[in-house]
Amino acid sequence: MAKSITRRQSIIYAAAGSLATAAVLGGLNEKSFCQSSEAAYPKPAMLPNPESPTVLVAYGTRAGSTMEIAAAIALALENRNFKIHLCPVQEAAGPKEYSYIVIGSAIRMGSPLPEVVQYIEKHQTEFAGRPLACFAVHLTNEQDDAISRQKRSAYLDPIRKLLNLNHEGYFTGVYNPAKLPFLEVLMGKLMKSPVGDFRDWNAIRAWGESIFLQESASVLNSRFVTAES
Ligand SMILES: Cc1cc2nc3c(=O)[nH]c(=O)nc-3n(C[C@H](O)[C@H](O)[C@H](O)COP(=O)(O)O)c2cc1C
Repeated sequence: MAKSITRRQSIIYAAAGSLATAAVLGGLNEKSFCQSSEAAYPKPAMLPNPESPTVLVAYGTRAGSTMEIAAAIALALENRNFKIHLCPVQEAAGPKEYSYIVIGSAIRMGSPLPEVVQYIEKHQTEFAGRPLACFAVHLTNEQDDAISRQKRSAYLDPIRKLLNLNHEGYFTGVYNPAKLPFLEVLMGKLMKSPVGDFRDWNAIRAWGESIFLQESASVLNSRFVTAES
C-alpha cells in the first residue's frame, strides 16, 4: 500500500509505473485486451492446457489504470496455467462460461463503476459455485491503519451486498489530470488529489498469484478422491 505520497515520490512512481506498465503490457492497445489473453500476451513458459479452467478477468475503467491492473492480474493467472478471458465488463459473457471470476473496478465517488455493479446484478444467480475475486482501484484510504482499511473495504459494499466475495484486493491507482475531462480535473483539484501513478505492481502481481489457490487445490483433491474411489 502506498503510504503518504510526496511530490518527489509521485514523480518516481509515475516513472516507475510507466516502465512497469510498458513491461507488463508490451505496448498493447486496449482493443487487444478484449480478446483472449492468448492473443494479448507473450506465451508463458507452460502453455495453457485446453482442459485448464477458464478465468474471466473483467474490469470497469474510466482512464485506463484499472484495465492495466487487470492485465497484470490476468498475466499472473495465466502463468499459473489458467486460461484467461480479459475484457471490459460490458463485453463479458455471463459467469456460467467460466470456472473462476475476477472483477475489478475503478472507484469513483466512493463506489465501483455502475457497469460493474450492473453486470453483477444482471448475472447474480449465475455466480453460484464460481469463486469470485474482486478488486478496487482507488486513491484515498490507502493507509495501513484500521480506519483506512475499514473505509476502503466499504468501496466494495455495493458488490458485497449482492454476492459473497472469496477474495478482495485494494490497489492504489493513478491520478493523471491530462487524461480526464475538465469537470473531473476540477473535482480532483477540489479534493486535492495527489497527481501520479501510485500502483504497486509487486502487490498487484502477488494478489494475482495468490487468488484461487485454495479453491483450485480442493478441485484437484476432489479429482484424486474420485479417481481413487
Ligand atoms: C472524478 C473522480 C472521482 C474519484 N473518486 C474517488 C473516490 O471516491 N475514492 C478514491 O479512493 N478514489 C477516487 N478517485 C481516484 C480513482 O479511483 C483513481 O484515479 C483510479 O486509478 C481510476 O481508475 P481508472 O484509471 O481505471 O479510471 C476518483 C477519481 C476521479 C477522477
